Amino acid sequence: MSKREKYLQLAIIIALIIGFLDASYLTYKHFFQPLATCHIGFFGDCGTVLRSKYSIMFGIPLAVWGLVQYSAVAYFFWLSSVSGSAFYKRLLFFQTAIGLLFSLYFTYLQIYVIGSFCQYCLLSAITSTFLYITIRTLFRDDYHSFILAKIEFIYKLILKPVFFVLPAEFVHEQAMFWGELSGKIPAVRSLFSRFLDYKHSMLSVKIGKTAFPNPIGLAAGYDYMAAFPGILPSVGFGYQTIGTISNQPCDGNAVPRLGRLPKSQSLLVNKGFRNCGADEIIEKIGGKKFGFPFGVSIGRTNIEETGTLEKAIDDIVQAFKKFEKSNVKNDYYELNISCPNLKGNLSFYPPENLKKLLKAVEKLKLKKPLFVKMPIEKTDDEVRAMLKVIATFKFVTGVIFGNLQKNRKDKSFHTDEIRKAGKGNFSGKPAFRRSNELIRLAYQEYGKRFIIIGCGGIFTAEDAYRKIRYGATMLQMITGMIFEGPQRIAQINRGLVEHLKIDGFKHISEAVGADA
Ligand SMILES: Cc1cc2nc3c(=O)[nH]c(=O)nc-3n(C[C@H](O)[C@H](O)[C@H](O)COP(=O)(O)O)c2cc1C
Repeated sequence: MSKREKYLQLAIIIALIIGFLDASYLTYKHFFQPLATCHIGFFGDCGTVLRSKYSIMFGIPLAVWGLVQYSAVAYFFWLSSVSGSAFYKRLLFFQTAIGLLFSLYFTYLQIYVIGSFCQYCLLSAITSTFLYITIRTLFRDDYHSFILAKIEFIYKLILKPVFFVLPAEFVHEQAMFWGELSGKIPAVRSLFSRFLDYKHSMLSVKIGKTAFPNPIGLAAGYDYMAAFPGILPSVGFGYQTIGTISNQPCDGNAVPRLGRLPKSQSLLVNKGFRNCGADEIIEKIGGKKFGFPFGVSIGRTNIEETGTLEKAIDDIVQAFKKFEKSNVKNDYYELNISCPNLKGNLSFYPPENLKKLLKAVEKLKLKKPLFVKMPIEKTDDEVRAMLKVIATFKFVTGVIFGNLQKNRKDKSFHTDEIRKAGKGNFSGKPAFRRSNELIRLAYQEYGKRFIIIGCGGIFTAEDAYRKIRYGATMLQMITGMIFEGPQRIAQINRGLVEHLKIDGFKHISEAVGADA
């Protein structure tokens, strides 16, 4: 225990003793030496307060309630300190919050209703406020977890049920609108970071010249309008990918473009690179810096005209050229070769197609690191063939495993839901297992040649940690946040620190590939 913690602990014990003595004195006075109504104390007419009708609650004098309150706080404080249990700490937070609320109410009564003050009651109010603050300062970490749990509770009780009855794409568009707006308001940003941000030196990651405050990023697809970079650093993300952006604007596939499979913990995605095109995005974010690193995902414009290999490559190259010429301050690129929802049958899977694409991009001599976003529905050997090609291009920094799940036979689907699912492919839990297998495969066969970004079905710190132990250096997610709430990013980061400590790692980089 640090010196600071010892002082805080001592201060809490002293405050508890003062509170207990104060309440004992008032109890004694109540039963054995009732004060006259006009007994004048240091601050005013003490007797009027102590003999008012408000001095009894449910037939029991407030002084006795005070004794119960301080005893309960002392008991939970002792249990919390001895056992370190999060449960007892939550009881302690709850109990001190009750103490504070009642103190505020009784002070209000003295000022506005009774019109007189009692110094013993004021002392109790000060003691309760002091306990409220110092206990939260002493157990700051647990208190943050408690707040996150409360946000989760509210999200799941109220917000999620409302969101989930509204059309999924409408909710997504609203999220972008409100996300963009709140990112522009400093007060909202600081409110969000106060509750949702979590920083820890064990989690920072450096790739090239870029320092990522933590390894959790928002995956491509949720922010194809570049709406979120203002607010996401305050929500606890370590970085985000904007896009996928294509050379030309594109409305995407026909509606419905987004659906939900709640029992399978998955989203049905049929967006087809809906985005406003490279020019508009460049105009929007050009020259801007945000509170964290960000990347741009680039893919081919989803129109029939780009459906041949040559035209698709040319279209992708044009998009890269636009960003390279621009003053957009992105820290990395993603090359999306794996979107399963595009018009035409063109695939970058065949290694010769992939090679042609990468050769064309190589000629651009990109100034920033490039990650290739990989499919997960391919067999191990198919992925090996792709990685073999990619590994020959030195300018490729890493690979992302991976994109949406195409395989409707994955065991994590709920049978009824998958039978009824319309056109599109799947995020969330159905993408979890296969992305893990491919992270492991890539790490086993290529070690540190590729920086691997793990993506697919991260809902908890355990999910995230598993991807790291299989070989991922960084992580990305979307669906877990939608199902679990915006506080989930901080919860995962916290959980990662706990896992690292339990396993004896000093930094997240030491855990990368531990189970590969
Ligand atoms: C609504 C939505 C749109 C997506 N669009 C893209 C996209 O444009 N480009 C891309 O590379 N991945 C896209 N994805 C795939 C995600 O980036 C990610 O690979 C996938 O959702 C698995 O992660 P998750 O389980 O955490 O959601 C999209 C996913 C969702 C849910």
